[in-house]
Amino acid sequence: MISRDHRQLIVVDDPAALAKAAADRLMARIDANSGRIAICLTGGSGPKQLYQLLATDAYRSRIPWHRVHWFIGDERFVPAHDPGNNMAVAREIFLDGCAPTANIHPIPTDRDNPDASAERYADELRSFYGAEELSPDRPLFDLVLMGVGPDGHTASLFPGYPALDETKLWVVGVPQAHVEPFVPRVTLTLHTLASCREMLYEVSGAGKRAILTRVLDGENLPANRAQSSFETIWLVDRATLPEDYLGQ
Ligand code: 6PG
Repeated sequence: MISRDHRQLIVVDDPAALAKAAADRLMARIDANSGRIAICLTGGSGPKQLYQLLATDAYRSRIPWHRVHWFIGDERFVPAHDPGNNMAVAREIFLDGCAPTANIHPIPTDRDNPDASAERYADELRSFYGAEELSPDRPLFDLVLMGVGPDGHTASLFPGYPALDETKLWVVGVPQAHVEPFVPRVTLTLHTLASCREMLYEVSGAGKRAILTRVLDGENLPANRAQSSFETIWLVDRATLPEDYLGQ
């Protein structure tokens, strides 16, 4: 494990090891909390192998499903059953077969526009949390999963977009995405995502090496600004690691 000021970088061999390491960290967060647990999932291709692993008996049988609540950090503004819908992917791979429906908290995309969806989801988060303001010593989530896009975006927080500077709203609408799919998005804001015991980035493959290099160089990118108030972990596989990190 390599420590970098505000985050830890954990390097594993390949995507399978990455999914296993992520699943084990998720289990550790669950085991550390004997009460109600909140996990914030993410979209994209990054977490799919993790989701598949959670559906296997080895993990499925250890998760106290009635105590775990599943949220999503950002959503594409497409219908709930659209294959591009982030929560639909998580539901199909593992949630629908395992989690009580009441514990699955999708961002509603059946509203008139992304802002209305964002407002509704913020209400849901506040009601789950039980307060109007996030308190630094009582994080909203036990774990927030994240990925990074080729432009350094994370969740639907794109470089240079006003959503990045939002300090009051918990969730915002994003009229246009900066990368495919070019559909409007709804995203949790930086301070909402930061309210977690652990933020866990999963990054894999040589295609992500260029952006990981920029992240590790400390460039001002959304993925460098999105951090937990407690612990931020970057879980990467060897193929993603910049050349000068190889061998570590
Ligand atoms: C989304 C995501 C987004 C994603 C990154 C990485 O809705 O697309 O939540 O932030 O995590 O774009 O995506 P990949 O894992 O597909 O590279």
